[in-house]
Amino acid sequence: MKPKIFITRKIPIPIINQLEKSFDVSIWEHEDIPVPQKVLEEKIAEIDGLFCLLTETINKELLINATKLKVISNMAVGYNNIDIEAASKKGIIVTNTPGVLTETTADLTFALLMATARRIPEASSYMREGKWETWSPMQLTGQDIFNSTIGIIGLGRIGEALARRAKGFNMNILYHNRNRKLQAEKELGLQYTTLEDLLKKSDFVCIMTPYTPETHYMIQKEQFLLMKDTAILINTARGGIVNENDLYQALADGEIWAAGLDVFEMEPVSLDHPLLTLPNVVTLPHIGSASIATRMKMAEVAADNLLLVLNGDIPKNVVNK
Ligand code: DGY
Repeated sequence: MKPKIFITRKIPIPIINQLEKSFDVSIWEHEDIPVPQKVLEEKIAEIDGLFCLLTETINKELLINATKLKVISNMAVGYNNIDIEAASKKGIIVTNTPGVLTETTADLTFALLMATARRIPEASSYMREGKWETWSPMQLTGQDIFNSTIGIIGLGRIGEALARRAKGFNMNILYHNRNRKLQAEKELGLQYTTLEDLLKKSDFVCIMTPYTPETHYMIQKEQFLLMKDTAILINTARGGIVNENDLYQALADGEIWAAGLDVFEMEPVSLDHPLLTLPNVVTLPHIGSASIATRMKMAEVAADNLLLVLNGDIPKNVVNK
């Protein structure tokens, strides 16, 4: 009998076909509806492997019934949706998809930075709404990117890829990280600094750190008060790193100038969220890694990880300690 796996969303057909060669596969067939927790609870009891997304909450309660489960393969680099400790206690291997999405996510981060600084969505709506009556000296003016200072919080793979883009724009690059990255400092001319210093000096504060209990609300009122009133906050990591109420207040009070957000504490963000009422907020629906090629690669890596574990081999991307 083939091992049983459950895939929590419709993924590209060639990858399903590949998995079907080795496994008895069942799928939550919807593209845009996450699998209900109830369905996951039923499935978890009967499967050997789980292929899931960041939209699934894999907590201790769910794992109680995971009596056969050997591997949870998350199709994302972030894995804050999974209780790693609970999985490890049950001997379940958890894997993610690092590397393949680095450049695509850095591209989107820089695109969001530029769109926010130069008010591109606002300018586009302004024109389409028929408000453009003449060229005017200070109309829709934004902040310069070239020669400005960027502060990168979290210099992992994606943070470093963002620094490479910033170097191309002749930006002064500051970073804050758990440990210093001397090679990157040398190659890209980065300056390591305290979080406080980074917040005080940066024109762009970019959050590139994983979401953990330590980074929860790492950026809140106190941090906004340190930032320049012309500063722009960019978050393409996880929403919970920023206190959204404090961010709203900081933007509404002019403590900072704008924010570009690809992620929110609760996703999908509610349409009546106060941040969505502000013209100086550019919002995106968590599309950092959303290029066709990269999403294909992420699905491939997630499938490979699943195959390796269930074939008794060592997967490439284990996140359990
Ligand atoms: C991740 O992989 O963690 C991103 O948030 C989605 O690609």
